[in-house]
Amino acid sequence: MKVKEVLYTKEEIDKRVRELADTISYDYQGNELILICILKGAFIFMADLIRYLTVPCIVDFVRVASYGSGTTSSGKIVIKKDIETPIEGKDVLIIEDIVDTGLTLSFLVDKLKERKPHSLKVCVFLDKKHRREVEFNADYVGFTMDEGFVVGYGLDFNEMGRFLPDICVIEE
Ligand code: IMP
Ligand code: MG
Repeated sequence: MKVKEVLYTKEEIDKRVRELADTISYDYQGNELILICILKGAFIFMADLIRYLTVPCIVDFVRVASYGSGTTSSGKIVIKKDIETPIEGKDVLIIEDIVDTGLTLSFLVDKLKERKPHSLKVCVFLDKKHRREVEFNADYVGFTMDEGFVVGYGLDFNEMGRFLPDICVIEE
Protein backbone atom coordinates (compact mmCIF):
# COMPACT_ATOMS: atom_id res chain seq x y z
CA MET A 1 0.00 0.00 0.00
CA LYS A 2 1.38 3.39 -1.01
CA VAL A 3 0.02 6.79 -0.03
CA LYS A 4 -0.57 9.07 -3.03
CA GLU A 5 -1.76 12.26 -1.31
CA VAL A 6 -3.21 13.68 1.87
CA LEU A 7 -6.88 14.49 1.36
CA TYR A 8 -7.72 15.88 4.82
CA THR A 9 -5.13 16.81 7.42
CA LYS A 10 -5.61 16.07 11.07
CA GLU A 11 -6.27 19.77 11.71
CA GLU A 12 -9.03 19.83 9.07
CA ILE A 13 -10.46 16.61 10.52
CA ASP A 14 -10.47 17.98 14.05
CA LYS A 15 -12.24 21.17 12.99
CA ARG A 16 -14.91 19.25 11.10
CA VAL A 17 -15.44 16.74 13.93
CA ARG A 18 -16.00 19.64 16.33
CA GLU A 19 -18.58 21.14 13.96
CA LEU A 20 -20.38 17.81 13.66
CA ALA A 21 -20.39 17.40 17.44
CA ASP A 22 -21.84 20.91 17.87
CA THR A 23 -24.63 20.16 15.41
CA ILE A 24 -25.41 16.81 17.03
CA SER A 25 -25.33 18.32 20.53
CA TYR A 26 -27.74 21.02 19.39
CA ASP A 27 -30.12 18.54 17.72
CA TYR A 28 -30.25 16.23 20.74
CA GLN A 29 -30.14 18.79 23.54
CA GLY A 30 -32.09 17.65 26.58
CA ASN A 31 -31.93 14.02 25.43
CA GLU A 32 -29.65 11.06 25.96
CA LEU A 33 -28.01 9.32 23.08
CA ILE A 34 -26.86 5.80 22.31
CA LEU A 35 -23.95 5.88 19.89
CA ILE A 36 -23.33 2.71 17.93
CA CYS A 37 -19.85 2.53 16.45
CA ILE A 38 -19.39 0.27 13.43
CA LEU A 39 -16.15 -1.62 13.95
CA LYS A 40 -13.48 -1.35 13.12
CA GLY A 41 -13.20 1.72 10.93
CA ALA A 42 -15.19 4.20 13.03
CA PHE A 43 -13.38 3.71 16.34
CA ILE A 44 -11.20 6.81 16.11
CA PHE A 45 -13.97 9.00 14.70
CA MET A 46 -16.34 8.06 17.51
CA ALA A 47 -13.64 8.50 20.15
CA ASP A 48 -13.01 12.05 18.92
CA LEU A 49 -16.66 12.90 18.40
CA ILE A 50 -17.90 11.95 21.88
CA ARG A 51 -15.32 14.17 23.54
CA TYR A 52 -16.85 17.20 21.82
CA LEU A 53 -20.48 16.23 22.50
CA THR A 54 -22.35 18.04 25.23
CA VAL A 55 -25.27 15.59 25.42
CA PRO A 56 -24.84 12.56 27.69
CA CYS A 57 -24.27 9.43 25.66
CA ILE A 58 -23.48 5.79 26.05
CA VAL A 59 -21.60 3.78 23.48
CA ASP A 60 -21.89 0.33 21.97
CA PHE A 61 -20.23 -1.45 19.10
CA VAL A 62 -21.36 -3.53 16.16
CA ARG A 63 -19.27 -5.42 13.68
CA VAL A 64 -20.65 -6.21 10.27
CA ALA A 65 -18.96 -8.17 7.57
CA SER A 66 -19.62 -7.99 3.89
CA TYR A 67 -18.33 -10.94 2.00
CA GLY A 68 -15.82 -9.78 -0.50
CA SER A 69 -12.36 -8.33 -0.10
CA GLY A 70 -10.14 -5.55 -1.31
CA THR A 71 -11.78 -2.25 -2.01
CA THR A 72 -15.44 -3.09 -2.63
CA SER A 73 -18.25 -4.69 -0.68
CA SER A 74 -20.16 -7.61 -2.10
CA GLY A 75 -23.66 -6.94 -0.93
CA LYS A 76 -24.05 -9.97 1.31
CA ILE A 77 -23.83 -8.51 4.79
CA VAL A 78 -24.03 -10.18 8.20
CA ILE A 79 -23.75 -8.98 11.79
CA LYS A 80 -20.58 -10.49 13.24
CA LYS A 81 -20.86 -8.84 16.65
CA ASP A 82 -24.15 -7.39 17.78
CA ILE A 83 -24.71 -4.50 20.19
CA GLU A 84 -25.42 -5.44 23.81
CA THR A 85 -27.64 -2.47 24.62
CA PRO A 86 -31.43 -2.61 24.29
CA ILE A 87 -32.42 0.30 22.04
CA GLU A 88 -36.22 0.13 22.13
CA GLY A 89 -37.58 3.61 22.74
CA LYS A 90 -34.09 5.17 22.69
CA ASP A 91 -32.44 7.80 20.55
CA VAL A 92 -29.78 6.02 18.55
CA LEU A 93 -27.02 7.39 16.35
CA ILE A 94 -24.95 5.04 14.21
CA ILE A 95 -21.35 6.14 13.72
CA GLU A 96 -19.61 4.94 10.57
CA ASP A 97 -16.32 5.80 8.93
CA ILE A 98 -17.45 5.93 5.30
CA VAL A 99 -20.50 5.24 3.20
CA ASP A 100 -19.75 3.93 -0.26
CA THR A 101 -22.29 1.71 -2.03
CA GLY A 102 -24.69 2.23 0.89
CA LEU A 103 -25.24 -1.51 1.29
CA THR A 104 -23.74 -1.81 4.79
CA LEU A 105 -25.63 1.07 6.33
CA SER A 106 -28.96 0.38 4.69
CA PHE A 107 -28.72 -3.20 5.94
CA LEU A 108 -27.84 -2.11 9.48
CA VAL A 109 -30.47 0.61 9.63
CA ASP A 110 -33.15 -1.90 8.60
CA LYS A 111 -31.95 -4.39 11.23
CA LEU A 112 -31.87 -1.87 14.05
CA LYS A 113 -35.25 -0.37 13.12
CA GLU A 114 -36.80 -3.77 13.89
CA ARG A 115 -35.86 -3.11 17.53
CA LYS A 116 -38.06 -0.02 17.60
CA PRO A 117 -35.75 2.78 18.71
CA HIS A 118 -37.42 6.14 19.33
CA SER A 119 -35.15 7.61 16.68
CA LEU A 120 -32.37 6.25 14.50
CA LYS A 121 -29.95 8.46 12.64
CA VAL A 122 -26.59 7.95 10.96
CA CYS A 123 -23.40 9.97 11.19
CA VAL A 124 -20.63 9.20 8.71
CA PHE A 125 -17.23 10.76 8.57
CA LEU A 126 -16.88 10.39 4.79
CA ASP A 127 -19.45 10.09 2.05
CA LYS A 128 -18.66 8.72 -1.41
CA LYS A 129 -22.00 9.93 -2.73
CA HIS A 130 -21.51 9.09 -6.39
CA ARG A 131 -20.80 5.40 -5.64
CA ARG A 132 -24.19 4.42 -4.24
CA GLU A 133 -25.75 1.17 -5.37
CA VAL A 134 -28.72 1.58 -3.08
CA GLU A 135 -30.29 4.84 -2.05
CA PHE A 136 -28.93 5.98 1.27
CA ASN A 137 -28.59 9.39 2.89
CA ALA A 138 -26.70 9.92 6.11
CA ASP A 139 -28.05 12.49 8.57
CA TYR A 140 -24.64 13.89 9.45
CA VAL A 141 -21.68 13.88 7.05
CA GLY A 142 -18.11 14.97 7.76
CA PHE A 143 -16.82 15.30 4.21
CA THR A 144 -18.18 14.33 0.82
CA MET A 145 -15.41 12.96 -1.36
CA ASP A 146 -14.97 11.90 -4.96
CA GLU A 147 -12.61 9.37 -6.44
CA GLY A 148 -10.06 7.26 -4.65
CA PHE A 149 -9.63 4.79 -1.85
CA VAL A 150 -8.62 6.35 1.45
CA VAL A 151 -6.88 5.17 4.60
CA GLY A 152 -6.06 6.78 7.93
CA TYR A 153 -8.08 8.10 10.86
CA GLY A 154 -9.28 4.54 11.49
CA LEU A 155 -9.89 3.59 7.87
CA ASP A 156 -7.88 0.77 6.37
CA PHE A 157 -6.89 -1.04 3.25
CA ASN A 158 -6.65 -4.71 4.24
CA GLU A 159 -6.02 -3.59 7.85
CA MET A 160 -3.21 -1.24 6.89
CA GLY A 161 -3.13 2.49 7.43
CA ARG A 162 -5.61 2.86 10.31
CA PHE A 163 -3.04 4.58 12.50
CA LEU A 164 -2.33 7.46 10.10
CA PRO A 165 -3.61 10.75 11.56
CA ASP A 166 -4.57 12.24 8.17
CA ILE A 167 -7.01 10.89 5.59
CA CYS A 168 -4.79 9.74 2.73
CA VAL A 169 -5.58 8.55 -0.79
CA ILE A 170 -3.68 5.40 -1.72
CA GLU A 171 -2.36 4.28 -5.07
CA GLU A 172 -4.68 1.64 -6.48
P1 IMP B 1 -20.63 0.18 1.63
O1 IMP B 1 -21.48 -0.95 2.15
O2 IMP B 1 -20.19 -0.05 0.22
O3 IMP B 1 -21.26 1.54 1.82
O4 IMP B 1 -19.30 0.05 2.40
C1 IMP B 1 -18.87 0.81 3.39
C2 IMP B 1 -17.62 0.14 3.90
O5 IMP B 1 -16.66 -0.04 2.85
C3 IMP B 1 -16.95 1.02 4.91
O6 IMP B 1 -17.35 0.73 6.21
C4 IMP B 1 -15.49 0.68 4.71
O7 IMP B 1 -15.15 -0.42 5.50
C5 IMP B 1 -15.37 0.27 3.28
N1 IMP B 1 -14.81 1.34 2.44
C6 IMP B 1 -15.38 1.92 1.37
N2 IMP B 1 -14.59 2.84 0.82
C7 IMP B 1 -13.47 2.88 1.58
C8 IMP B 1 -12.26 3.65 1.53
O8 IMP B 1 -12.03 4.52 0.67
N3 IMP B 1 -11.36 3.39 2.50
C9 IMP B 1 -11.53 2.46 3.47
N4 IMP B 1 -12.65 1.72 3.55
C10 IMP B 1 -13.61 1.91 2.62
MG1 MG C 1 -16.13 -0.24 7.72
